[in-house]
Amino acid sequence: MPTSQVWGRGRRCLLVRPGGGAQLARALSGAGLAPVVATTEAEALALLDREAPAAVLVAQALGPVAIASLVARAGQRPPAIPVVVLGAAGTVQEAVDAMQQGAADYLAPPLDGESLLPRLRRLLERSPAPEASPAGSTAALTGLVGASPAIRRVLTAIDRISRYRTSVLILGESGTGKELIARALHARGPRRRQLFVPINCATLGRDLLENELFGHERGAFTSATERKKGLFELADGGTLFFDEIAEMDPATQAKLLRVLERSEFRRVGGTGKVKVDLSVLAATNRNLEEALRAGRFREDLYYRLKVVTLRVPPLRERKEDIPALIDAFIADFNRRNDGKIQGISPQALTLIMAHDWPGNVRELKNAVESAAILAAGETIGLEGFADLGGRRSPGGARVAAAGAGALDGVVTIPVGATLAQAERELIAATLQRYRTRRQAAAVLGLGLRTLYTKLRLHRLRGGAADDADPA
Ligand SMILES: Nc1ncnc2c1ncn2[C@@H]1O[C@H](COP(=O)(O)OP(=O)(O)OP(=O)(O)O)[C@@H](O)[C@H]1O
Ligand SMILES: [Mg+2]
Repeated sequence: MPTSQVWGRGRRCLLVRPGGGAQLARALSGAGLAPVVATTEAEALALLDREAPAAVLVAQALGPVAIASLVARAGQRPPAIPVVVLGAAGTVQEAVDAMQQGAADYLAPPLDGESLLPRLRRLLERSPAPEASPAGSTAALTGLVGASPAIRRVLTAIDRISRYRTSVLILGESGTGKELIARALHARGPRRRQLFVPINCATLGRDLLENELFGHERGAFTSATERKKGLFELADGGTLFFDEIAEMDPATQAKLLRVLERSEFRRVGGTGKVKVDLSVLAATNRNLEEALRAGRFREDLYYRLKVVTLRVPPLRERKEDIPALIDAFIADFNRRNDGKIQGISPQALTLIMAHDWPGNVRELKNAVESAAILAAGETIGLEGFADLGGRRSPGGARVAAAGAGALDGVVTIPVGATLAQAERELIAATLQRYRTRRQAAAVLGLGLRTLYTKLRLHRLRGGAADDADPA
C-alpha cells in the first residue's frame, strides 16, 4: 500500500486523554493526520469547536459524563464528527457503554497505532466530507497546505489581518511560502479586486528600483522619452509586495517611508504630487534586527512595516506538514502532466521526513516533482530521492539514509515514523555496516532466522554479504 503513511491528508484528529497521549499522537502524525491533544473535557469542547476535527478519540478514563457531552457536541456539527472511545479495561460492558453513548467505535486496549489506525482510516473514509473550520476555508482559498500549529497560526492570522489595510512584514527562510502568504493576504483582503504587484528588491539596483517604483516624467533623463508610470501608481488601490526588503538601499528606504506616511509621491523629474492609496506587504529571509543594528536598515521604516509581523517557521520545524504537502504536490503534478502517480512509498517518506530541507517547501516541491518524473510506476520510490541519501544538512542533523547507505553508523528516525519504519531503517543500516548477516543479526540481538523473516517483511536485500538463508 504505497500511500499507507499519508492517508490522513493533514486532517485534524482530536485526542482527549487525561494523561496526554504523546505516543498515540505520534502514531497519528505518522499516518499524516494532524493530532490535537486535550487533557480535560473543557479543553476538548473548546478544541472541538475551534478545530473542527475529522474525528475525536476519547479515553474511557475521561468518564461517562464527559464522553457523553463530547459525543453530543460532535454530533451537532454537520457532518457529525465520529467519536471513538479508547477503552481502559477492555471489558464487554465498556464496549457496550461506549456504543450506547453514541460512539462510532470502541477500541479495547492495548492501544497503539497498529490497532487504532486501520479502524480510524475506515471511519474517516466513510466520512470524507471536508472540514468546515475557518482555518480550513482559508487554507482552501490561499493554497497554503499544512495543518501544523505554525501553519494554523499563519492561516488564522491571515483570516484576521486581511480585513485591515495594514502593513505586514513576513519573515522566514527562503522557500517557506512568504510570497504565497502575501498573495493570500491580498486575495482575502478589501483590495482583492485591485492589483497585487510584487517587486523584488534584490534583483534591481538602486536607480532601477526607484525608477520602477516612482516612474518618471518625459525628459526626466536622457532616455526618458515618455512619461512612465511607476509601480506606486500601477498598484494604486491595491497591494505592493516588497520581496527581499532587506536588500533595499537605505536611500530608497527613506523615500519609500515618505510615500507610506504621506500617501503621495512625485515622479522622477516631476513637480506635481501624485496621491496613492496602497497596502504594503514586505518579506525577507534576513535578520532585520541585525540589519538595523548594522545600520543597513532604517529603524523608522522597520517600525512602519512591522505593524503586524508574521513569522513562517522553516519546514524542519513543522515536519508534520510534509505528508500533506507531498500529497498536494503530487496532485498538482498529476493535474499538470496528466500523471497517474498514486503516492509515495513509506521508505521514501521516511527518508523525506528525516531530511532537514534547508530550501524548505520550495526544495521539497522540486524534489517531489523530479521524483514523480523519475518514477517508474504509480508510486514514487526511494530511487527518486537519491540526492537526499545521507546528505548532511546545514543544521548538522544526520540524515537517515534509508536504503541509500547510512553514514557514520548513525540512523536518525523522525518523530512521526512508525515503529515498523524505525525497525526497517535500523536493520538496513546495520546490514550495511556489518559484513555478514550473521554479524548483523548478533548486533541487532536477533536470531538469524528472525532477521531473515524481518528482511522479507521489510523487503530488504543487499548490504551484508549473503550467508546461506536458513529459512
Ligand atoms: N504551505 C505551503 N503550501 C503549498 N505550497 C507552498 C507552501 N509554502 C510554500 N509553497 C510553495 O513553495 C514554493 C516557495 O514558496 P514562496 O515563493 O512563497 O517562498 P518564499 O518564502 O517567498 O521564498 P524566497 O524567500 O526564496 O522568496 C512556491 O512554489 C510555493 O507555492
Ligand atoms: Mg519569495
